[in-house]
Amino acid sequence: METPDQLRDALLKDVEAANSTEALEELRISALGKKGRITELMKGLGQMAPEERKAAGQALNVLKGEVSSAIDVKKAAMADADLDKRLMSEQIDVTLPAAHEETGYVHPISQTIDEIVGIFGEMGFTVAEGPDIEDDWHNFTALNIPLDHPARQEHDTFYMPGEDGKRKVLRTHTSPVQIRTMTDQEPPIRIIVPGRTYRSDYDATHSPMFHQVEGLVIDKTSHMGHLKGCLIEFCRAFFEVDDLPVRFRPSYFPFTEPSAEVDIGCTREGGEFKIGHGDDWLEILGSGMVNPNVLSNCGIDPNEYQGFAFGLGVERVAMLKYGIPDLRTFFESDLRWLRHYGFRSLEVPGMVGGLVR
Ligand code: PHE
Repeated sequence: METPDQLRDALLKDVEAANSTEALEELRISALGKKGRITELMKGLGQMAPEERKAAGQALNVLKGEVSSAIDVKKAAMADADLDKRLMSEQIDVTLPAAHEETGYVHPISQTIDEIVGIFGEMGFTVAEGPDIEDDWHNFTALNIPLDHPARQEHDTFYMPGEDGKRKVLRTHTSPVQIRTMTDQEPPIRIIVPGRTYRSDYDATHSPMFHQVEGLVIDKTSHMGHLKGCLIEFCRAFFEVDDLPVRFRPSYFPFTEPSAEVDIGCTREGGEFKIGHGDDWLEILGSGMVNPNVLSNCGIDPNEYQGFAFGLGVERVAMLKYGIPDLRTFFESDLRWLRHYGFRSLEVPGMVGGLVR
């Protein structure tokens, strides 16, 4: 039979040679397990004479301690080495650009609104908002559209019951936020208002819910020249054509006087539509000097203050800029469409970063 010393030498050599945690575990079982080599030796103690048994027992206990602590030390060293190896192989270079693995895309409407807000933000406008469900006063009356005014019919309004028998409307444009802002704030005012609007209409260029961006500037000196400069600048920045022709065509809105519709130059040669120099025009904005009646309705003295307002349809300019042929597709939640027309979430539009995709 092996002596404890021989066994120690053999086992410690095995520990030394083991090159995996699994091998170490096997070794532990074969030495210290129920049928292990040390355990077997321990079993032999029973047949020994008492004085012999004492010395042999002590020697075996020492052996047991030595072997099991050698295994533990080796195991810990191996775990450390494993961790070091993993840390080396899993190094992340934080200076690398972010991987484009996103599956979600920014909807073209959100992107277009961000772009418009980016451009007017650079000009010093701040964003204002108002409720989708409006009352007659804010959506029509205060905007100089009295009850019997034909514009009320033109807007194809969705009406809904309100409190005290007074009906509510789903706002037909973002212009009621002009009223809310002028009633709540002292001039000078310089706001843009992106938001949802509603009209009962549905075809390739109309959806019952659509988006507008309103603009309003009120102070003591802003005049038609400022309106023109501001909107020309916007059109050129938004469509990214530096010398884009912009035309102001006399028009009528009850809440502005004088009023102008804004057209941009385009060509439709050979069935291909292009924004820029050409022989054709395309309407994209409504605008005008705020009607003095509107100022009075909001408690602002028209003899002291003046300013201009404008409104544009977000879907319309998004369709033009990004070549989207049917307005209804914006709201069909078709993922294939979104993958095609959507924008990457990390590419935030701005004047500096560039508005281009
Ligand atoms: N509210 C108008 C519309 O919806 C647009 C507009 C806004 C025109 C502000 C002039 C000034 O058609």
